[in-house]
Amino acid sequence: MLRCALMSPSAKRTCPWEFYVTTDEAKLRPLSGCRTYGSKMFDTATAAIVIALDSTLCDNTWMADGAIAAENILLAAAEQGIGACWCHVHEREGAPELTHRLFGIPENLKVLCAIALGYPAEEKSPYDLDKLKFDKVHYV
Ligand SMILES: Cc1cc2nc3c(=O)[nH]c(=O)nc-3n(C[C@H](O)[C@H](O)[C@H](O)COP(=O)(O)O)c2cc1C
Repeated sequence: MLRCALMSPSAKRTCPWEFYVTTDEAKLRPLSGCRTYGSKMFDTATAAIVIALDSTLCDNTWMADGAIAAENILLAAAEQGIGACWCHVHEREGAPELTHRLFGIPENLKVLCAIALGYPAEEKSPYDLDKLKFDKVHYV
């Protein structure tokens, strides 16, 4: 997963991301309360990867660069049978402050998200390919 994260494309190959990885319950469990909803997976997650970025390294692309790295992690996790979920942190209530404090992330970095990792408790059915919203695709 981390190899895939570090191979993520970034604008002008600035690689503005920093990945904070933990399996420490003393950090994972408090993450559950970083939001009023959408963060409860950290009650049971086995690990987390927090993605923080130095926006001064790139020209307004830090969020895109971080999102691509996150997606690479999600895809690598799925490939390995690991359950993974994006918990959005940027501009969500007190989530950035809590995450900075818990993980000792320098103030100059912006925290985009925390990826929760664990063993899936359920198997979700795959997307029905016939129900994909092809009306969102515009041939012009
Ligand atoms: C930018 C972004 C932010 C997200 N934030 C959260 C979140 O804070 N909490 C959460 O449980 N899921 C979050 N998700 C996961 C989405 O809810 C999930 O991808 C969506 O429900 C589709 O599910 P699927 O990927 O299993 O098809 C986020 C996804 C994205 C792309």
